Amino acid sequence: PQQDRAQLSSLLDATTRASRFFQEQLRRSPKAIEYLKQRGLTGEIARQFGIGYAPDDWNALREAFGKDYDSPALLESGLVIQNDAGRRYDRFRDRVMFPIIDQRGHIIGFGGRVIGQGEPKYLNSPETPLFEKGRELYGLFQARQAIRESGMVVVTEGYMDVVALAQYGFGSAVATLGTATTATHIQKLFRQSEKVVFCFDGDKAGRKAATRALENALDQLADDREVRFLFLPAEHDPDSFIRAEGLEAFKRAASDAMPLSEFLLQTLRADLDLSIPEERAKLVHDAKALIPKISAPILQLQTIRLLADDAGMSTDEVSLALGLRPAFKS
Ligand code: GTP
Ligand code: MN
Ligand code: MN
Ligand code: MN
Ligand code: MN
Repeated sequence: PQQDRAQLSSLLDATTRASRFFQEQLRRSPKAIEYLKQRGLTGEIARQFGIGYAPDDWNALREAFGKDYDSPALLESGLVIQNDAGRRYDRFRDRVMFPIIDQRGHIIGFGGRVIGQGEPKYLNSPETPLFEKGRELYGLFQARQAIRESGMVVVTEGYMDVVALAQYGFGSAVATLGTATTATHIQKLFRQSEKVVFCFDGDKAGRKAATRALENALDQLADDREVRFLFLPAEHDPDSFIRAEGLEAFKRAASDAMPLSEFLLQTLRADLDLSIPEERAKLVHDAKALIPKISAPILQLQTIRLLADDAGMSTDEVSLALGLRPAFKS
């Protein structure tokens, strides 16, 4: 454990030094500054999120680390890669750098975006003892105060969504960083706020991400918790939406977002023709995989009522069909 702690602190030292270096390099790179400006970001917001720039150089970090460039910590942090011949080189080159900060304010990893076009668009730090992707929410450290004040947290897909929303005055957004929303993410979110609004991209991948989030949220619901889904127009993500429509429009869309119960029913109803008894039966059959998981008893009953209306059955009939007791009879 003592050795673990020493390793963590040397990893943390590496990411912190690297982040300071990337921020300095941003100030010296007209090209990276121009890119951020063109994406509508001010210097102030870039500072707030610690955004930096990794130079177009195979060993730029040598400048920051000197002989420590050859230390195990740099390799373990993923900032440096070693090829089969034993040569070391920087993982991030010619990219805009987003530090990933944990809840204590520690820099635990990075996401790096190509400037303009290129593959991969984003390159992330590998998982390390500091950085576990399925646990972290980008922007949570900066968003905490705004989340408390607004009474909700908005979950997006990407770095730029969080930063752009903050730039426009919406500070209570975080991002899952390309991974699906995990149960751990949802636990963390509910620790911050009773109201969680998922706002993924308007494309097909975004819809799929929403369905995954729905499934993972069911067993963490409570009757004083609220989950909603904000579906943006197909061509938009939160970043482009707030740029096109403005802060007030985004706030309105967030407060009018679709309640989980309605999204659940909509998901179940998709592609079914409810004028046919067989398809009404399939509706209830498919609901067995979802509704019994709802861990909020009153909301579960409310959802059963919605389902009963669609299925043309009574709530008690639906409850029995789902393997649940009839409502509140004990
Ligand atoms: P911008 O184009 O800069 O606005 O990024 P975006 O956030 O809108 O990108 P997109 O919607 O395509 O992806 C959402 C998130 O998925 C990103 O913020 C990244 O965290 C992640 N992601 C996107 N592309 C890649 C990639 O090529 N590799 C990896 N590892 N992650 C990616
Ligand atoms: Mn997308
Ligand atoms: Mn996007
Ligand atoms: Mn985007
Ligand atoms: Mn089945």
